[in-house]
Amino acid sequence: MKKIQISPSILSADFSQLGNEIKRLEKGGADMIHVDVMDGHFVPNLTIGPPVIKRLRNCTKLPFDVHLMISPVHKYIEDYSKAGADIITIHPEATDNLIDSIDHIRKLNKKVGVSLNPDTKLNIIENILDKIDLVLIMSVFPGFGGQKFMHEVVEKIKNLKKIKDEKKLNFDIEVDGGINFENSKIVIEAGANILVSGTTIFKENNGNIKKNIDSLKLE
Ligand code: DX5
Ligand code: ZN
Repeated sequence: MKKIQISPSILSADFSQLGNEIKRLEKGGADMIHVDVMDGHFVPNLTIGPPVIKRLRNCTKLPFDVHLMISPVHKYIEDYSKAGADIITIHPEATDNLIDSIDHIRKLNKKVGVSLNPDTKLNIIENILDKIDLVLIMSVFPGFGGQKFMHEVVEKIKNLKKIKDEKKLNFDIEVDGGINFENSKIVIEAGANILVSGTTIFKENNGNIKKNIDSLKLE
């Protein structure tokens, strides 16, 4: 059983203090930093890109878990690699050739993630599961923090875990969107080992980061 890790999303952080917010997350026990990159095209929101990530890189040694909600994505992958991403997660719908994009990230010596929106079926990635390090299951439609967790994805998490065990694969199962103290237990029991959370971590318990991270980890 993999150790449960927490990847706080800085989308819910104070954007005027991103460097300090990342330091607060590290101090509070975050395992990695979830960086939501949005281009206003793949999703109806716009956040940050390589120049900001490059500056934030020096604020922490924690891995940057970069979630690219951009399209087209292939031609920008190297920019995020150079900016300091450690995990680069892409959406299959955002590339003309998923295998090429996976190989491209691999050649840059970065961990490869593929993200599935709530309405995207598992079968579109079944044949590439042995090529990737992480599957990011979206439990909201991407674009905004603070949305409500979609319980229908729990079945998808269970099915993915079943396939992973049957094929004896070792990729991480990360879940992203609306994660809180109630549904985190459900998601972990379903098979997830990395939880993304923005609103719960920054807003609950008067913003007590350590308490919120520990509560999500069931510790
Ligand atoms: C949504 C992002 C998520 C989101 C999670 O498009 O991919 O990472 O920021 O934030 P909460 O935990 O507030 O749903
Ligand atoms: Zn995300």
